[in-house]
Amino acid sequence: MSHDLQGNVLTGASETGATQFAAALQQLSNYAGDPLAIAEQLIAAEPGFVMAHALKAWLYLLGTDAKAAQAAKGFIAEAEGLEANARERGHISAVRALADGRFHEASRIIEDVSAEHPRDLLALIGGHQLDFFTGSSRMLRDRISRAMPHWSARMPGYHAMLGMHAFGLEEMGDYAQAEAKGREALSLQRLDGWARHAIAHVMEMQGRHEDGIRFMRDDIEGWTKDSFFAVHNWWHLALYHLETGDETAVLELADGPITSVAQNQMLDLIDASALLWRLQLRGIDPGKARWQALVKRYEELWVPGYYAFNDLHAVMAFLGAGRQDLVEATLAAQGEAEADNIAFSADVGLPLMQGFIAFHKGDHVRAITLMRPVRNRAARFGGSHAQRDVIDLTLLEAALRGGDAALAQALAAERLQAKHESPLAALFARRAGLQHGAA
Ligand SMILES: [Fe+2]
Repeated sequence: MSHDLQGNVLTGASETGATQFAAALQQLSNYAGDPLAIAEQLIAAEPGFVMAHALKAWLYLLGTDAKAAQAAKGFIAEAEGLEANARERGHISAVRALADGRFHEASRIIEDVSAEHPRDLLALIGGHQLDFFTGSSRMLRDRISRAMPHWSARMPGYHAMLGMHAFGLEEMGDYAQAEAKGREALSLQRLDGWARHAIAHVMEMQGRHEDGIRFMRDDIEGWTKDSFFAVHNWWHLALYHLETGDETAVLELADGPITSVAQNQMLDLIDASALLWRLQLRGIDPGKARWQALVKRYEELWVPGYYAFNDLHAVMAFLGAGRQDLVEATLAAQGEAEADNIAFSADVGLPLMQGFIAFHKGDHVRAITLMRPVRNRAARFGGSHAQRDVIDLTLLEAALRGGDAALAQALAAERLQAKHESPLAALFARRAGLQHGAA
């Protein structure tokens, strides 16, 4: 009977297959390499290898790509017919729920798997991403906290545990611990793109843009080499440059590594949308051509109505490109949302899309009316605090442009308090006419 490197039984796997599976999991835990290719080779060579099927399904589903989810439904059905142990059945049930759009149920199923098998690294990685998609800060931290006593620094994959824990601690606002865990992870594995990302978030949330630029630029190879997550980390670097108003550096990144990818992924499109939108908010017009090029990429990949978080970002691109037809199609598709996305859209996505549309039209009063009630529950449709900051930035800009001085001052003060060193926070404070002697 074969086992993975953390001691979990692998039904249907040969010793060679188990070794290859370990290599795939190592790649996934760095967010680099091509674990999907390994999973597919394993399935071809050892069709009864249940966890190879599970790995393939997770990789298809974690991209929040509607077409990939549709494809996954077909091959998950094959895996459901295989002989499997309880842990493996848990994985297959979780990916089935996720393929059907039941994010919360998938999260709970794989949470139970982790409780029984805390050394199942794939269950933790899959669950951690689900916590991200459902905006559950607490579980981003605690799913990993629960498993930690069962791990030690000597175990393969420990860096990934530290990296995930770091991100969860960051999303819970425990920045000092988050940075310490993230740095410990990188000391064990400098290629761990998720640990790198957790530290990038700490610096973003604390407004430490100069530290962030140094931290990311000091080891670009470490987080870009063979990485399938590099675009998002480039995006974080671009945010630091945007803090200082360094338009040239931001546009270089926007036109370079943030868009020049061999294969489109939803996350890459989201990052490109958010960056161009934030540039525009700062009064730097990225130009219609950039927006149009981005819309072209959306048209190749994106399906409206699948995941409201993606749809909001698609709307930013459609507004920028002047594609009213696509804006309207996106709004219409919200009525066809299924499963958990019904609530993601109704509670958060749709009012934000309408708010962003009103903002784009210059109807700042309506934009504020739509966005304000959603702001405090926006985590429900997923993403990180840093990603959802685009909501605060748009709201603050609407308050400034719409002449709502009290709201603008309140939001500017809040931002300055959270990000002492941030030039952007200081700029907002000045624009809002905030008297901030102590700051
Ligand atoms: Fe991020």
